[in-house]
Amino acid sequence: MIKNIAIIGSGAIGLLWAHHLKQKGFEVTLIGRRPQLLTQPLTLQTHSGQEVTQSINYLHNQLPSSPDLVLVMTKAYQIADAISPYLDQLKGCPIVLMHNGLGTVEQLSLAEQHHVFLATTSHGALKSQSGVEHTGLGQTMVGCYGDAGTDQVKTICKALNSALPPVEYVQDINAALWKKLAINCAINPLTAINQCRNGELSNTKYTQQLDTIIKEISYLTERLNINLSYQEMRETVDTVINNTAKNYSSMHQDVLNGRETEIDFINGYIVNIGKALGIPTPENEKLWRAINKL
Ligand code: PAF
Repeated sequence: MIKNIAIIGSGAIGLLWAHHLKQKGFEVTLIGRRPQLLTQPLTLQTHSGQEVTQSINYLHNQLPSSPDLVLVMTKAYQIADAISPYLDQLKGCPIVLMHNGLGTVEQLSLAEQHHVFLATTSHGALKSQSGVEHTGLGQTMVGCYGDAGTDQVKTICKALNSALPPVEYVQDINAALWKKLAINCAINPLTAINQCRNGELSNTKYTQQLDTIIKEISYLTERLNINLSYQEMRETVDTVINNTAKNYSSMHQDVLNGRETEIDFINGYIVNIGKALGIPTPENEKLWRAINKL
């Protein structure tokens, strides 16, 4: 049974899950890098505008003694450093990675006894002065990495679904992760470079560039036998642009605030996979370089 949940990463998505899980009666501990953080109660502004204030246990760079589940919700470039110190302690404990981009799990030195699951969510959340704001309702999909067990993933989904539904187990998590990757490859760098909200990308001046970004990704998915067509990715990108029209993407905010971006795990991941397969991805490469120059 899952009762004691540790969340590594106290960004917007980590706080969103921490609040919802705690409200459902789970014992939640947030683990972060800042010693003084989160000693005071935190407020969740729900999607319907209500405010819920709760105290959430916080540990500085340390896991609780025997968690039943660890959720890793840092930025992609922080994953390896955030989880590696605890890998010995976490043999046998389910670990769920949930972040934008791909390529992080390959950076971990995993042993047979590690049970890793990969997840993707479309909830929108923004950190606020007093806690976190739930800016967009979404859904979450979880799947197994390597030999991780399907019974275990179903138990995880049930626990997560009780707190912030819908959470669904998907057998083909790779297709779901690549679909989210395509969304991020298209929306994130363009909104960061053009300093605009997501909705601005529905202007016809971006149509051809969006087509090209997704076309390049579709050459890779086709070669890798990932069950995801150009059409499906392209339509999903348009849907997300419309559904999140008023939002600023995470990369837009990272660039604006002078923070490191996840570009190496988004368009950069596409470029590296393209190189390994001998498939050129010039538009993704152009965006990768442009963001890294900002
Ligand atoms: O990174 C983000 O901002 C989000 O994943 C998305 C879906 C692009 C919406 O802004």
